[in-house]
Amino acid sequence: MSSALLLLRQKLQASLPLTLGAEIFLPEPLLVPASNPKFGDYQSNLPLALAKTLGKPPRIVAEEIVKNLDLADICDVSIAGAGFINFTLKPNYLEQELQKIYGDDRLGVAPVQKPQKIVVDFSSPNIAKEMHVGHLRSTIIGDSIARILEFQGHEVLRLNHVGDWGTQFGMLIAYLQEAYPEALVTQDALDLGDLVALYRQAKQRFDADPEFQEKSRQEVVNLQSGVEATRRAWQLLCQQSRREFQVIYDLLEVELIERGESFYNPFLGAVVEDLTQLGLLEENEGAKCVFLEGFTNKSGDKLPLIIQKTDGGYNYATTDLAALRYRIKEDQAQKIIYVTDAGQANHFTQFFQVARRADWIPETVQLVHVPFGLVKGEDGKKLKTRSGDTIRLQDLLDEAIDRTRQDLEQRLTTEARTETAEFINHTAKIIGLSAVKYADLSQNRTSDYIFSYDKMLNLQGNTAPYLLYAYVRVQGISRKGEIDLDKLTNPRLILQESPEITLAKHILTLEEILAEVTQDLYPNRLCQYLFELSQKFNQFLEQCPVLKAEEPMRTSRLVLCNLTARTLKLGLSLLGISVLERM
Ligand code: ARG
Repeated sequence: MSSALLLLRQKLQASLPLTLGAEIFLPEPLLVPASNPKFGDYQSNLPLALAKTLGKPPRIVAEEIVKNLDLADICDVSIAGAGFINFTLKPNYLEQELQKIYGDDRLGVAPVQKPQKIVVDFSSPNIAKEMHVGHLRSTIIGDSIARILEFQGHEVLRLNHVGDWGTQFGMLIAYLQEAYPEALVTQDALDLGDLVALYRQAKQRFDADPEFQEKSRQEVVNLQSGVEATRRAWQLLCQQSRREFQVIYDLLEVELIERGESFYNPFLGAVVEDLTQLGLLEENEGAKCVFLEGFTNKSGDKLPLIIQKTDGGYNYATTDLAALRYRIKEDQAQKIIYVTDAGQANHFTQFFQVARRADWIPETVQLVHVPFGLVKGEDGKKLKTRSGDTIRLQDLLDEAIDRTRQDLEQRLTTEARTETAEFINHTAKIIGLSAVKYADLSQNRTSDYIFSYDKMLNLQGNTAPYLLYAYVRVQGISRKGEIDLDKLTNPRLILQESPEITLAKHILTLEEILAEVTQDLYPNRLCQYLFELSQKFNQFLEQCPVLKAEEPMRTSRLVLCNLTARTLKLGLSLLGISVLERM
């Protein structure tokens, strides 16, 4: 299907040469969704934009445009105000379109015509350090972006750029040799909680003791030169972290391919060589750097981006440059999307700049940093436990599930309902996790957001439970009427009441919304769409009887219920959220 917006744009575009002559330069966009329902569904200010060029009053231009526009099957067209054209879709057109998508698994959303190979680099926690709420945001937002692109038909490579290399390992291994030698030879000797505490102790030791510093440096050398015992110790540390991370990914149902920083070690030398050959590298106090355009220090000198340190070691940016080259050359990526906190924006601008100046980015390749804001506690400060420690993700997710379970059990008591333990566990898990995901995704990702269990678990408002409940209402109708809504015979639509028409129009804009999200990578637009869908659906149910309606209205309304539920299910799945049949 092509959305009404696209269709109207095409029709308008095609009619214009007739009216205006072929020479006219047309401003974009020709037509946009109406800013207010009283202006219809779509509006165009083209007459105002062209009046001057044509030397005619806008209303006259509008009349000429409308005269040649044949949209009788699709919408009513009217001229308003100083020379706007308003378009109002006709119920007949809406009925036909809905009928078409009823039989389509993709609900009318066509896959893109030119699928791309796209890398989404997200989650990317660091080994031996706790995965924190920032990584949770990256995981949730990155997963949703990947799901949307996959649904559009792109080939997505979901990469976990884990921080699994660096000098911290020398320190950690040296410390473990002293304190817990068995951890370096036995699997499962430590869990990540211990590892994080040990990391802190190791750091203290490192800062206090020069002899220990020397030992740590030696271990870094051993690691880099591949000394067997050190390598093995490193691998065990990575495995332990990896297992802990996997618990979170399984819980959230997020798929990732781990390709950590260490993967790019063999390619770091070539980055330095090639930058040297290009004349971009300069020595600065013993380090090899690229001086950045547009980044200066206080005295106005260009800032250096260190590519190789004085001791020969490499930096975060060097690895990112190597990864970038690998992804373009070996993975054949046409677009690379990085999902990290906004605090890393400079890092991305900087190494993108170096790669561009080195001419490593073909014109066909697009690099995008997708930044997001901080997660804060209800006190507006950094999210912490009551005792002031950083919150473990596992605990945070468990608490969401526990609180949901308590709410649910209370609701069951009030409603005098009995349910199995299995039902309660499953429902609590889905609602709890959905609530956390949705709370994150429904915010404009660039702003900070306040993490509040009470808000996200509320059945009212722009929350996951509210959306899930709208879906459940449809399943309830299906159960009560004993009707398989996916298999209605002769699913004909008749749109008469205004809530029906409003709901129908909303269902049909899914394709427009997804196109927008794919373009701008703001999943909160999709959340807003689904929230409004649920609201419009609830209004429809309030005003239009369904099971009690007479035929053919009854079937028509059942189709609307079905399409609402399927749109919710599809939309939520693109946010990484599963639906429930009952709750
Ligand atoms: N490990 C980094 C961190 O925890 C995020 C890595 C993001 N990806 C990248 N290619 N730099 O902040």
